[in-house]
Amino acid sequence: MDHFEYQNGVLCAEDVPLGTIADAVGTPVYVYSRATLERHARAFKAGLAHLPKVHIAFAIKANPNLAVLKVMSREGLGADVVSGGELARALAAGMTGPDIVFSGVGKTAAEMVQGLEAGIGQFNIESEEEGIELAAIAAARGLRAVCALRVNPDVDARTHEKISTGKAENKFGVPIDRAAGIYTRLAVLPGIEMRGVAVHIGSQLQQLQPLEDAFIKLGELIAELRAGGQSVTHADLGGGLGVPYKAGDVFPSPAEYGAMVGRVCSQWDVTLMFEPGRVICGNAGVLLTRVIRVKRSSNGAPFVVVDAAMNDLARPAMYGAWHDIDAVVPSGSRMIANVVGPICETGDTFAMGRDIDALEAGDLAVFRTAGAYGATMASSYNSRGFVCEVMVDGAKFAVVADRILPAAITAAERVPEWLE
Ligand code: LLP
Repeated sequence: MDHFEYQNGVLCAEDVPLGTIADAVGTPVYVYSRATLERHARAFKAGLAHLPKVHIAFAIKANPNLAVLKVMSREGLGADVVSGGELARALAAGMTGPDIVFSGVGKTAAEMVQGLEAGIGQFNIESEEEGIELAAIAAARGLRAVCALRVNPDVDARTHEKISTGKAENKFGVPIDRAAGIYTRLAVLPGIEMRGVAVHIGSQLQQLQPLEDAFIKLGELIAELRAGGQSVTHADLGGGLGVPYKAGDVFPSPAEYGAMVGRVCSQWDVTLMFEPGRVICGNAGVLLTRVIRVKRSSNGAPFVVVDAAMNDLARPAMYGAWHDIDAVVPSGSRMIANVVGPICETGDTFAMGRDIDALEAGDLAVFRTAGAYGATMASSYNSRGFVCEVMVDGAKFAVVADRILPAAITAAERVPEWLE
């Protein structure tokens, strides 16, 4: 459920007609709904409300815009960060160090220092090597890094191969059968306090079973660690809950997810930690675009060339992902179309042979469910600018990220004098 609905035949973000936003800031532009962000954050919290000790860290990578993070921090969520840049954003949005989890397989020494200085609540370490390095950096400062060990449970998340993270061949975490040994060795290092275990098997999961399988393995590991005399007070269950991209698709709700977690994990006597991203912000954004022209093709369906491209929304090109496409002011007619961007790559294709609202040059349309992994994955490929972002709140809206024009990007480039 989101707040992008038709009012009198015009698609609105909450109470703002999308045409008003296009007139004000141009296209392409991402439009976020504050009410939808809040609704999904609250639904996620409600799904876990029956569990005794819960910490929710919004996975900033899904949407790092400061205004979005502000909504999350006002909802009481912490942050899951994977870089110094994300850490700085979380702090700037009002999230506090203790509520921040630092994940990622390649934290640099500088990022470890940055995390320690910010008083990070938990580093999720992904290898013994990383743990040893972090312990040394912390000890040299007279500190102890609070850590969880991320394990790789070798479970197939049954999602797209590029966003699956919990199979043995993936780069993430330590193999679960070696985890107890690594945990025990790291726990004695002076610069480290090992307090828990973490798992994240992938993103856009449509089934709860793989998560359940992974959590069961994590529970067995906790029991093994405790039997070996280790303390385990926290278990981080990661993110991964998927959302429907196609009208009519059905995904597990946060309530069903919470019920499964309760069934599997409620006897663990730990603080359960969560890192949701997409499930909170995915449906809370659309990418608003204008049709440049409609081009006849040689074999039937015309090409609808829009002003958004794979540099603005990479998911279709990267993962073959589906985003529903709707006209802002549907005429009532339909067409079978190939919807493409202007970039000089065949991969810059949003839909082939898709049944959509009839569109003509100048019409506005949206790609739905673009609030997660949208603007944040944008690039300036083909010397296009960085896409603008807007947030709506009831009848008002504000630009929450300026459009970065190609000239601003060129201004950061230099021609050395020996080429003059
Ligand atoms: N925690 C960790 C350690 C993660 O790696 C991720 C996502 C999350 C939490 C949040 O997962 P979520 O709840 O959003 O599924 N660009 C891809 C998705 C990449 C996900 C990366 N990790 C896409 O557009 O589908």
